[in-house]
Amino acid sequence: MLPAQMVQMMDTSYDNDPLTQIRQSTYGNPAYTETAYTETIYSASTRTSYISEKSEKRYTPDIRLAIEEYKDEYPDGISFAWKSVGYTIFNSKTKKKQNIVTGCSGIVHPGEVMAIMGPSGAGKSTLLDILAGRKDQKMVSGQILLNGAPGEVKHVSQYVMQDDALMGVLTVRENIQFAADLCFPPYVAPAERSYRVQQIISEFGLDAVADNKIGTVFVRGVSGGEKRRASIASQIITLPKIIFLDEPTTGLDSAAAYNIIKSIVFMARRHKITVIASIHQPSTETYSLFDKLCLIGKGRTLYFGDRESATTYFEGLGHVCSPYSNPADHFLRLINPDFMLDKIEAEKTINSFINSYDQSKTKANTLSEIRSIAKSSVIHRFSSRQKNSYARGFVDQTYFLTARSFKNAMRNILMFWIRVAMYVCLAILMGITWWQVGFNQDNVQDRFAAHFFSIAFLAFMSVAGIPGFLEERLVVTRERANNFYSVGPYVLANTIISIPFVMIIAASFTAVAYPMIGLHSGFDHALIFYLYLFLALIVAESMVVFISAIIPIFVASLTLVAFANGFFMVVEGFFVRRDKIPKALKWAHYIDYQKWAFEGIIRNDFYGLDFNCEPIPGSSGKYHCLHGDLTGNSSTFTGKDVLDSYGYTEIQLVKWALALVGLTLAFRIGFYIVLRLKKITN
Ligand SMILES: Nc1ncnc2c1ncn2[C@@H]1O[C@H](COP(=O)(O)OP(=O)(O)OP(=O)(O)O)[C@@H](O)[C@H]1O
Ligand SMILES: [Mg+2]
Repeated sequence: MLPAQMVQMMDTSYDNDPLTQIRQSTYGNPAYTETAYTETIYSASTRTSYISEKSEKRYTPDIRLAIEEYKDEYPDGISFAWKSVGYTIFNSKTKKKQNIVTGCSGIVHPGEVMAIMGPSGAGKSTLLDILAGRKDQKMVSGQILLNGAPGEVKHVSQYVMQDDALMGVLTVRENIQFAADLCFPPYVAPAERSYRVQQIISEFGLDAVADNKIGTVFVRGVSGGEKRRASIASQIITLPKIIFLDEPTTGLDSAAAYNIIKSIVFMARRHKITVIASIHQPSTETYSLFDKLCLIGKGRTLYFGDRESATTYFEGLGHVCSPYSNPADHFLRLINPDFMLDKIEAEKTINSFINSYDQSKTKANTLSEIRSIAKSSVIHRFSSRQKNSYARGFVDQTYFLTARSFKNAMRNILMFWIRVAMYVCLAILMGITWWQVGFNQDNVQDRFAAHFFSIAFLAFMSVAGIPGFLEERLVVTRERANNFYSVGPYVLANTIISIPFVMIIAASFTAVAYPMIGLHSGFDHALIFYLYLFLALIVAESMVVFISAIIPIFVASLTLVAFANGFFMVVEGFFVRRDKIPKALKWAHYIDYQKWAFEGIIRNDFYGLDFNCEPIPGSSGKYHCLHGDLTGNSSTFTGKDVLDSYGYTEIQLVKWALALVGLTLAFRIGFYIVLRLKKITN
C-alpha cells in the first residue's frame, strides 16, 4: 500500500494516535515489513511527520542531513526559561533610560500553556516579544534558556500574529493547505502535507467548517472564532516547539475564546509544545485551562508560578478570592492602578506586590528550578536551518503562490468578474455610440476618438483592481512575516496570474467593440488591436500594483492612480499635439504607456484605409479634402495621409509594442523594490 493511500485511510479523530493507526494499517499488510515501516515513517517524537519511501530515495546528502536534524531536534520538547530579563529604552523626551520590563524570570515546560496577564500598559506584549526574540537584542538584558542552554529561540518557535489575515475566498482547508505547502520542506510529500492539514483541522475542532470559505464582503463565511482558530492553525502547521501568541482571544466572545485556548492546550499536550500567550480578561473557564500564570505590573513580575497556586499565594498576602468570582478578574483588580482612586496609594500597592513576590518562596523555587535545569542540560547542537531561510525554493514558492492567486482571482468577484462585466458594458456602449464609424472624412476624428477612448477608458478602469490587491496585500504581509516566501516569487506569481485575466478582459472588449465600431476589417488588424489593448492593460495593471504597494491606503492609491492616468492622457499627444506639449512635460510623454498604445492602434487602423473627400457643390469633379491632395482633384485620401499630417510618421508596430513591454517591466521591478524595502517584522 502506498503511504498516500494509507494516509487517506487513516481516521484522524482526537483519541487515536496517528502513529498507532499507521502501525495497525501497515502491520496487517505482508508487503509492509517492520523495516519498511521504520524507513517510511519517522516521527520527531510527537511531531508526527511522514516521509514517503519513494521520495526519500531522491534526497541529496544535504537534504538527508536536514532530515536528520529535523528528526533529532528536541524530541522531547523544550523547557523554556528566562532569567532576569529586562528591556530598556532611551526616552527621547526625558533624555533618560527607561525600563519597560525589569528582572522577569520564569520557566515553562513542554506541553504547558502559560498566560501572561496584567493591566494595559503593564508590559505584556513587550515581555512576549523579548521571550520570542523579536526585540532589538541591544536593549534586552538577561538570559533565555532552551532546555537549560542559551539558544536562538527564533529557530524553534513561531510567533502567532493577532490579525486573521486569511484569503477570504478560500476555504479553511485551502488556507491551511497553502501554509503547509510552503512551510514544510520539499522532502515532506504532498500526501503527508495533506494529512498534517487534516490533523490540525481536527485538532482545532474545525472539521465541520473545513470546506467552508473564510468569508468576504460577498460571501458569508465562518464565525470569528473559527476564523481565528484557522488563522492560528495555519501559522503553526509545522508544529514548532514553542509558540508565542499575543492576545489570541481579543475581539471574541467568551465561548469562542474558550474554544481557542482549549484547542491550543490540546495541541500543546499532544505535541509537547511549550506555549506562552498574553491574555486579556479571560473568563473563569478559559482561565482554568492555563497551567502557568505570569502576572505583571509596571514591567515587573507580581506572580509567576502554577496557575492553581496563584489563589493561595494572594490569599497569603491577605487578598482572598471569593469562590464565586473569577480569579483572573480578582488578580487584575488587585494590581490595576486604573481601579484605584488614589494614585499614590496605587503606586504603593503595586510596589508592595513587587516586593512580596521578590521575597517569596514561589520566586525562590522558580529560580532554583531554572538553575537545576541549567546544570543538567547538555549543550544542544542547533539546527543549521535559519529561521529566516525559506522551507521552499524559488520555483516552488512561485508555483504555490500562482496556484493560489489563480483560485483567488477566479473566485474573487471583487477583483475580476465585476471588471469583466464592466468592460463588456463599456464595449457595448462604445459600439452603440460609434456604430459603424464609416469612411467619410468627417469620420477621421471619430476614429481617433474611438481609439483614444478604447485605451484611456480601459486603462482608467484598472483602478478597480485596487481593493482586491489591497486585500491580498494584508495577507501577503502576514505570510512574509512568517517566512512563507520571499518577494521575488510573489511578484512573479502576481505578474503571471494577471496575464490570463487581462487577456480575457482585452478579448471580451475587442470581440464586442471592434466589429460594432467597424474598425479596420480583417482578423490580423483585430488581432493587433487586441494585442495593443492587452499590453496597455498589463502596464496599467502593473502601475496599479506599484502605486498601491507604495501607498497601501485605498483612497490615497485610488486618487494617485487616477491622477497618473489623467496626466498620461493629457501628455499623450491626442488632445495637445506632440510638438505643442510643454518642454518640461516631454519626458512624461515618453513614459506614457497610453501614448505607445494609442499610436500603435491608430497606425494599425489608418494604414491601408481610404477616406472620401467632400464634393464641392456646383463644381464639376472638384473635392474638398482635409488631408492628402488638397488641390481638389482627388476624391479620396489615405489613412497614411491622415497620420502624416498629424505628425505620426515614425510609428513602428513592433517597437511600440516593445516600449509597452519595457514599461511593464519597469513597473514590475519597481513593485518588487517597493516590497523589498518595506520593513516586515516578525
Ligand atoms: N519602544 C517604546 N518606547 C516607548 N514606550 C514604550 C516602548 N515600548 C513599550 N513602551 C511602553 O511600555 C509599556 C508597556 O507596553 P506593552 O505594549 O508591553 O503593554 P501591554 O501590557 O501589552 O499593554 P496592552 O494590554 O495595552 O496591550 C507601555 O506603557 C508602552 O507605552
Ligand atoms: Mg499588548
